[in-house]
Amino acid sequence: MSEQTLTITDNRTGQTIDLPIEDDTVPAIGLRQLKVQADDFGMMAYDPGYTNTASCKSRVTFVDGDRGILRYRGYPIEQLAEKSTFLEVAYLLLFGELPTAGELTDWNDRVMAETQIDGGLKDLLTTFGADAHPMGVLISAVAAMSTLYPDSKQVHDSQNRMQQVLRILGQLPTAVAFAYRNRLGSAHIDPDNALGYSDNFLHMMGFSGDGEVDPVLARAMDVLFILHADHEQNCSTSALRNIASSDADPYCAIAGAIGALYGPLHGGANEAVLRMLAEIGSREKIPAFLDRVKNREVRLMGFGHRVYKNYDPRAQIVKKIAYEVFEATGSNPLIDIAVELEGTALEDDYFVSRRLYPNVDFYSGIIYQAMGFPVEIFPVLFALGRAPGWLAQWMELMSDTEQRIARPRQIYLGEAERPYVSIDERG
Ligand code: ACO
Repeated sequence: MSEQTLTITDNRTGQTIDLPIEDDTVPAIGLRQLKVQADDFGMMAYDPGYTNTASCKSRVTFVDGDRGILRYRGYPIEQLAEKSTFLEVAYLLLFGELPTAGELTDWNDRVMAETQIDGGLKDLLTTFGADAHPMGVLISAVAAMSTLYPDSKQVHDSQNRMQQVLRILGQLPTAVAFAYRNRLGSAHIDPDNALGYSDNFLHMMGFSGDGEVDPVLARAMDVLFILHADHEQNCSTSALRNIASSDADPYCAIAGAIGALYGPLHGGANEAVLRMLAEIGSREKIPAFLDRVKNREVRLMGFGHRVYKNYDPRAQIVKKIAYEVFEATGSNPLIDIAVELEGTALEDDYFVSRRLYPNVDFYSGIIYQAMGFPVEIFPVLFALGRAPGWLAQWMELMSDTEQRIARPRQIYLGEAERPYVSIDERG
């Protein structure tokens, strides 16, 4: 086999270096050997948005964006969505293997035993006004958990880490449901630990009425959570890894990840898609809207992805679930606009040439709306689903001996040194 090295010649100096290639990657630090003067800092790689920079080695999730492939721990997302439950997938992401029947029962029990939230957290959640965005509330709730569980600072103790994992998975749905019911001015509904994870969440949100949560809706919620459970080094997961690399506790790291997820280019897109579809309003107005997209006045929300240059496999599954949910809830009139919008865009050279396809957020909001969720809570549902992925990535980071505090470099283009000018001399 040929030598696994990359030879680089610096044409400024004629200096040649060999960098080792491992997994089609070269160590960026090797470039620092390239200098014009002996006391130069050395060469760096410039990569705004980290489009081609691997920040870690990971064994959790595999994405092949060109072929539209997503696997958790090697298992195709399509098979997990069809056959698994969300808590089983959470176990898989965290521990690397599917659980045995006994392990799964034990795992379900351990997570569901943590569903009660602290009185202090409830007090905090009642202070938010009815117009507070649920993502801001969720960020605050998770950050507040850092103050309630100071033992979580022991991030190098693996048993302690697992305790926080259980608390976060167990308590997040309860905190979300408590805040939601508080916002509605409705009575809080206690968790029912005998129910499945998603069933219990919908129960606490008030979906059970006097009876039980519709099993079609509980399963749809579970599958949507599975589809959102991890997506390797995306914006929010990278934010989480950055924060946790300073040994910050997992609540602070997840609060930061939720902040990153909140943006409309990431997890906030599901809310933005619904607002966009409502604004388009009717199928006749689609061509005019797409003209505005092509004139760069607006983005087609729910379309495009940094990694997928093919159909996002999650979007295909979400589209299918939409019709199953409509059987139980009645259709959402926005689906017709969405389907026609997708079809028209996928025949348009602007989207074809840029390889822009629907992503996971394009159809998920339509389902959430049909289920009865208000639009502003959609990104929160994304965050609930993503929690096990964030936690698995955090666990992996904390046991990765190659990792160090995240601290990128910059290319400084500002002023050179200059003397201070007193205020009466500035003009
Ligand atoms: N609508 C219109 N044009 C788009 C869109 C879009 N949704 N997405 C990308 N483009 C265009 C860009 O303008 C650019 O065109 P140009 O080369 O002529 O300038 C080209 O396609 C490449 O796009 P980039 O912005 O370079 O792609 P990037 O990888 O930086 O961004 C992103 C990815 C943020 C997801 C982008 O596609 C986008 O804004 N999509 C809409 C928001 C969205 O749905 N986000 C959810 C993503 S999935 C998730 O986070 C869970």
